[in-house]
Amino acid sequence: MSLSLSADQPAVPAVADDGVWLECIECGETFAPFDDVRYTCDECGGLLEVRYADLPTFDDFEGEGQGVWRYADALPFDAGVSIQEGATPLYEVPRLEDDIGVEALRIKHEGMNPTGSFKDRGMTVGVKVAKELGVGRLACASTGNTSAALAAYGSRGGMETLVLLPAGKVAAGKIAQASLHGARILEVDGNFDACLDIVQELAGRGEAYLLNSLNPFRLEGQKTIGLEILEGFLADYDTVPDRIVLPVGNAGNTSALYKAFRELVQAGALEAEDVPKLTGVQADGAAPMVEAIENGADEVRRWDDVETRATAIRIGNPVNAPKALPGIRETGGTAVSVSDEEITEAQRDLAGEGIGVEPASAASVAGLRKLRADGIVDDDERVACLTTGHLLKDPDAAAAAGSDPEPVPADTEGVLEHLQE
Ligand code: F0G
Repeated sequence: MSLSLSADQPAVPAVADDGVWLECIECGETFAPFDDVRYTCDECGGLLEVRYADLPTFDDFEGEGQGVWRYADALPFDAGVSIQEGATPLYEVPRLEDDIGVEALRIKHEGMNPTGSFKDRGMTVGVKVAKELGVGRLACASTGNTSAALAAYGSRGGMETLVLLPAGKVAAGKIAQASLHGARILEVDGNFDACLDIVQELAGRGEAYLLNSLNPFRLEGQKTIGLEILEGFLADYDTVPDRIVLPVGNAGNTSALYKAFRELVQAGALEAEDVPKLTGVQADGAAPMVEAIENGADEVRRWDDVETRATAIRIGNPVNAPKALPGIRETGGTAVSVSDEEITEAQRDLAGEGIGVEPASAASVAGLRKLRADGIVDDDERVACLTTGHLLKDPDAAAAAGSDPEPVPADTEGVLEHLQE
């Protein structure tokens, strides 16, 4: 069963609850959505997706809610455990647009969410589901941002949270957030992929409810990034973007955006040929998705040794690849990797337009620049780049990319003298 851009309407299975069910993307098995804790298919172990009997068009997004919850008609609930996530800016960047050389470039800055990353959009739904299921402890493996969001939304929901982080590889701002919001933090002597292996086992043994992007409900909230980008482009350019460029780690966002677009096509709100080309960017030192796209492979090879300054996407085993590979291919997109130097340069470029992002976020702009230089992106394209996390998440990287403070004496003459040097 392939995840294609089709206008076919699904048959609603008997297990559906209020028009919502879970379906395996591999074997098509269906499950009731909130009866049991379940992350993957009982039959074949495949990834699950949330499916709906009725899908909304753009006209339906005019309800009561704000931000993510403005799109309640595309979500399993009317409201979640919320800290006012979503409704992030879609910045114009005229100098960068000119410099890279595309018809239009906009930056969807997800760093402007409550905890400073797009993860909040998934957690407002995921923590709500956890409450519906009545689970005790919430847990995730994380390169940092997921742990910050889980800690904040868990505490908002009055729930216990446990986060597993790769020791020494998580940016300072993210650990500070997880800590102050009250998560129990375990520093694992291994990389992110090892942390996720452990959390999946803990979840499988009933020790915790898993809130990594393997959890299909998280991706429902993250779909709203795609809906906001489309609405923003329709308002400003009267057309949807030709391409959306985004950093890739576990490929959750890539999967979520593709799902948002598939659902719009199914609802008759978007033509399949108008769906933006999903274009993933990874760091050279952690690029298993890029490898799979370049090789035309159906499966992604797990990279055991990964390294990059963009620690948020220091991931060798993108668990959502079975959802994301069709997303990149069916939309006519591609995937590209960039060096740490190119990432830092793009971080400076964005900062030069007043937009502060963490390194992983800048990968989207670095990737666009590279694809434009290689002629893979055309000069007549309208493009949205996703910047996934705020500059203050990784203050060390920001300080290293910027200029150093200059010591001066505490008198005006001394300061003037220094300025003249
Ligand atoms: N950008 C940032 C800033 C991230 O934190 C992440 C993932 C990604 C991009 C990649 O997104 O997984 O949907 O492809 N961070 C996760 C975490 C792994 O634990 O915070 P993806």
